[in-house]
Formats: sequence, structure tokens, C-alpha cells
Amino acid sequence: MKITVIGAGNVGATTAQLLANKELANEIYLIDILEGIPEGKALDMYESMPIMESDSKVYGSNSYEITKDSDIVIQTAGLARKPGMSRDDLLVANANIVSACINEAIKYSPNAYYIIVSNPLDVMTYVSLKLTKLPRTKVFGMAGILDTARYRSFISMELGVSMQDIQALILGGHGDTMVPLPRYTTVAGIPVTDLIPKERLDEIVKRTAGGGGEIVKYLKTGSAYYAPAAAVVQMVESIVYNQRRILPCSVLLDGEYGYNDVVVGVPVVLGKNGIEKIIELKLNDEEKALLKISCDHVAVTIKEAMELINK
Ligand code: NAI
Ligand code: 2OP
Repeated sequence: MKITVIGAGNVGATTAQLLANKELANEIYLIDILEGIPEGKALDMYESMPIMESDSKVYGSNSYEITKDSDIVIQTAGLARKPGMSRDDLLVANANIVSACINEAIKYSPNAYYIIVSNPLDVMTYVSLKLTKLPRTKVFGMAGILDTARYRSFISMELGVSMQDIQALILGGHGDTMVPLPRYTTVAGIPVTDLIPKERLDEIVKRTAGGGGEIVKYLKTGSAYYAPAAAVVQMVESIVYNQRRILPCSVLLDGEYGYNDVVVGVPVVLGKNGIEKIIELKLNDEEKALLKISCDHVAVTIKEAMELINK
């Protein structure tokens, strides 16, 4: 297994380190535009492997040549939010950065799975799909696992029970219009709606939708990266070990949920063939209306991004 992580910043470096610690690949390649940074961080990680008891080898470079024939490429390069910015404010800068990175990566790894992380996530996933010309089973985005992890953490804090017992789903775009689904949230099989009053659950849902912004407010110079990196690693694990986990991932819809040609988060089966299945939930009218707002918003931003790229 050979994995490339593009972007040696907070999310990229943390992802590479977690992948190496878990020995999810024999070789991990860290790529960045900054001189010395990918090499330095990679060597530092390499040198931690004897202690971590892992035989993963981590290499860094500014050049994509060493990424040749990667099995998985993780795209994290791009600007991160600062306080007061929405993910969509990153569109122009990141559309250019993501295009530059993906156009290089695909030359060397035409058969890889591409996990997109750069924001605005759903739009950057769409852009990457178009640039790679790969099927939607091979190019998909990470967001839903992170959003769901935040939601699960907040429910665990509220109830004072193990996070492991909390199962939840979030649909839609990675942004303010994400659609948490309390109807599909359970605590050891018990509907969360039986355990937390509606008004309080509404507050938790709101905190989840603003979860990324909450971290940005604290950090001031950037956005979250520990939980995002952990979420990427869960996707990689499901592919590498063919776990066929059911995880919320951002994928191109082709009729599912009544939408076409838009990328949003939906539950999928993720295994050795990438996105093996998209699971369609039976949504009620309120959930459908929220998903529509989310899809419409992402569709408009996709149009803007494609205009920028085709200029
Ligand atoms: P960061 O600023 O720490 O790292 C970004 C890295 O990208 C920097 O090292 C920079 O030098 C590099 N870079 C910029 N242009 C490049 C290019 N053309 N080629 C190669 N490398 C280039 O940012 P961080 O925190 O790692 O976030 C990265 C991206 O991931 C941001 O767009 C952020 O919004 C997004 N993100 C998405 C999440 C999600 O849930 N999908 C979660 C967390 C972050
Ligand atoms: C987050 O939700 C920055 O999108 C990223 O933390």
C-alpha cells in the first residue's frame, strides 16, 4: 500500500502521522509547495516509527514524481479558514490550488482512490472528479465523519455516556447547511429523542453545524485538524482492510435522493472498491426540505468553481 498526502500542513501532516502510526501503508508520501517542510516533517515522522513500532516509511517532497502509482491520494492542500470566514470564502484560492495538485497527482497515480479534504469540501470533490475523470466510486470527500464525530461527542458530553455507544448520521453539504438527523441517532440502540429533550437536542444540532467555526474561533490562525485527520484515517482503514463500513462521505449523486450532478454527504458502503454503495434513507418532509437547501447551495457553488476552472 502506497499513500500520498498532498499538503503538509495541519491536516496533511496529522493524517500522515496517524496513517504511519497505524501502519496503514508501507510508504507514505507527503507533498507540499513549501520548500523543506514536507521533507522535514516526513523525516521527523520516519524517525518516530521505531518508537511507534511501525514499519511505515514516510517521505516528503515538492515533486509528485515520487508519488507514482499511489493506491490512495489524500488532497489536503489549500487555505484554511480564519475567524469570520465561511468555507465558501476559500473557493477562489482553493479551486486554483486543488486543480494544480490534482492535475499533477493524476499524472502519476491514474488508478488511485482520491480522498478530498480541502474546503469548500463538496465543491472541491466535484472539481477533483471532473479533473481526474475518474468514476465517483474513486473520488470522494471527507466531511460527514467529522461532522458526525462532533455530534456524537456533544451527545456523549450531554448524557455522560460512552461515545462508542452513540450512532449518528449527518447528510448534506459540509457547511452551515449540513443536515444532522436526530431520527437516525441512537444511544446503545435507544433513540436519542427519548433521552434528550427536543429543545436541547436542537442546541446540540446547532453546535454541530457550527463545530468547525467553534474551533476556528479558538485557534484564530487556522481550523481544526485532529478530528479531521482521524476522520480521513477511518476512511483509509475501511478501504485498506475492506471493512465495508457505512460512513457518511461526500459523493456525486446520480439520481439518489432525487439529485443529479451535485456532491453532498450521504451514507455509503466504503470498501476495497471505494464507494461500493450509496444508501438511500427514507427522509421525512422536513429532512427532505433541509437536504434540498443544502444541495441547492452546493450546486450554486459548484457552478462558480467550474466557471473559475474553465476560465
Ligand atoms: P494548513 O494551512 O495547515 O495546510 C495547508 C497546506 O497546503 C500548507 O502546508 C500549504 O503550504 C499547502 N499548499 C498550499 N498550496 C499548495 C499547492 N499548490 N501545492 C501543495 N501544497 C500546497 O491548512 P489545514 O489546516 O491543513 O487545512 C487544509 C485544508 O483542509 C483547508 O482547505 C481546510 O479548510 C480543509 N479542511 C477540511 C476539513 C473537512 O472536513 N473536509 C476539515 C479540516 C480542514
Ligand atoms: C471543519 O469543519 C475546517 O471544515 C473544517 O473544521
